[in-house]
Amino acid sequence: MVGLTEVDAQHKELFDIATEIFELFNAHLVDKYDNVMLVFDKLKNYAILHFAHEEELMLKYQYSGYNVHFEVHQQFLETVDSTLLGLNEDTDEEILKNILIFVIEWISDHILKMDKAMADSIKKLQSKS
Ligand SMILES: [Fe+2]
Repeated sequence: MVGLTEVDAQHKELFDIATEIFELFNAHLVDKYDNVMLVFDKLKNYAILHFAHEEELMLKYQYSGYNVHFEVHQQFLETVDSTLLGLNEDTDEEILKNILIFVIEWISDHILKMDKAMADSIKKLQSKS
């Protein structure tokens, strides 16, 4: 938890969607690939909304780390996009799982470091106003 209510709620939603993907891996579905890709897409689209919310907050409070943080968000989305484009029905399930693990680890690490630093600065500014 970084201590900003909306940001924390959105982080929880990201992990909930990731859990949904994990559950799909365990389900014995015939068209597992299609289902997994649908939820990956949902995760990506939610990440886009969430990043936009953080970026709005950073701009609102004129956060000095905005440029770097914005760039890191963009690079992550580009990596996810190009990774998802390279997948198809024949992609090994292990590879899909590894992508999910990469995404979860990236989000966790990003929250602990960059989002925490951003939230600490914003909370200080909020308490002054
Ligand atoms: Fe962020």
